[in-house]
Amino acid sequence: MNPLAQDARAAGARVGLTGDTITINGGQPLKGRIEVKGAKNLVTKAMVAALLGETPSILRDVPDISDVRVVRGLLEVHGVKVALGAEPGELILDPKDVESAHMVDIDAHAGSSRIPILFCGPLLHRLGEAFIPDLGGCRIGDRPIDFHLEVLAKFGAVIEKLPSGIRMTAPEGLVGTKIELPYPSVGATEQVLLTAVRATGKTELTGAAIEPEIMDLINILQKMGAIISVDTDRVIRIEGVDSLTGYTHRALFDRNEAASWAAAALATNGDIFVGGARQPEMLTFLNVFRKVGGAFDIHDDGIRFYHPGGELSPVVIETDVHPGFMTDWQQPLVVALTQAHGVSIVHETVYEQRFGFVEALIDMGANIQLQSDCLGSHPCRFGQRNFVHSAIISGPTTLHAADIVVPDLRGGFSHLIAALSAEGTSRVSNVGIISRGYGDFITKLRQLGANFVVEGE
Ligand code: EPU
Repeated sequence: MNPLAQDARAAGARVGLTGDTITINGGQPLKGRIEVKGAKNLVTKAMVAALLGETPSILRDVPDISDVRVVRGLLEVHGVKVALGAEPGELILDPKDVESAHMVDIDAHAGSSRIPILFCGPLLHRLGEAFIPDLGGCRIGDRPIDFHLEVLAKFGAVIEKLPSGIRMTAPEGLVGTKIELPYPSVGATEQVLLTAVRATGKTELTGAAIEPEIMDLINILQKMGAIISVDTDRVIRIEGVDSLTGYTHRALFDRNEAASWAAAALATNGDIFVGGARQPEMLTFLNVFRKVGGAFDIHDDGIRFYHPGGELSPVVIETDVHPGFMTDWQQPLVVALTQAHGVSIVHETVYEQRFGFVEALIDMGANIQLQSDCLGSHPCRFGQRNFVHSAIISGPTTLHAADIVVPDLRGGFSHLIAALSAEGTSRVSNVGIISRGYGDFITKLRQLGANFVVEGE
């Protein structure tokens, strides 16, 4: 079995699936209410931030996803005590006894996650050394870590490449510095934040990512005692402090999950109330959703997304860093765009290879052409490099059932949506990978009236 399938099977087992294949009888609208919890792309970083505190941290609204389990395992091998709190989804993280971990244990716990790279700054502060195994994550491009390594080196980390991974030390301690990112990378910005807050002196970061999940990480670090200011034009300034305490924080909701369920409502002609979703972090998505022909009602406790009837309209989308249209939103929405009347265009400018999921949609009857040209006006790093990163979707096309192997997290969710909207019985395997980022998705599908069977159950 390939490593991806192994990860997916393991993840599937952890969410309570006895198999990692589901058989879906599609063609029925998804209707009902589900709740989203804290954002995968914040919660995992917030857990790492707990390493920086002298006292325990309490994190609320933690989703039951395998990426959280990976980070928990990594924290535990470094001596952090992790316990469940009083309310569901509450974690208590006690870093009092942080210690070096064996490379082999780190490697065993890292699984397919890219999070270990973010342990480096905090571990260098606490222990003077850190180790990163070969990193995984979704196969959506090269996903290099060059920005991270350059950032850490600028703070004074000494980096040694070993056959099994990368070892870092900080013999002189870490010192604040000026950093300019060549691209507003989410992970590299988090790397700077998690390292600079305890470095000696001031750090100035230009070209920073400013995603809402990063702003929430800044909220957490401020609660811990950090001094961070976010200036205009992607400049973040951090004044290092000698020590930080633990934090108590309720995580920002998962806007990527909310957008995925919204797309599922549209593609299946359904009506889904996403409890916990909020308007401000979804503004850009909501505009596009409305342009396609979707309807939404904003409530205090969530957002109702639904297909109001009538024809869906084609749109032109270019994915971008915040406040642009998130790359994680495009895959689920592409399924709905196969039902729009006319030609839609999606120009992916964040990852060079994020259209792998389209092949399965084409097999199901979608009319989608992929192009290596930039079909849009946003500056893009991939145009002259033969990366297939633009899609032309002509609709509407009837989707028919198929056997699908889920390739990655967001692409996998889009396959689920396609199978749910297609007439007939589809078999979707490797679904365990979806549990990396979608908490309790099997339960949620049941709550929405989906007609499916988990193989082996
Ligand atoms: N990049 C480099 N070098 C680096 C780091 C990034 O060239 O050292 C490039 C990447 O290859 C990519 C671009 O910069 O082309 C953006 O990458 P970024 O660092 O912003 O992404 P990330 O931190 O690895 C996070 C999320 C992704 C989300 C992106 C963009 C987490 C764990 N992952 O990834 O989420 O798509 O930001 O918003 O926070 C997902 O949830 O499915 C997912 C992939």
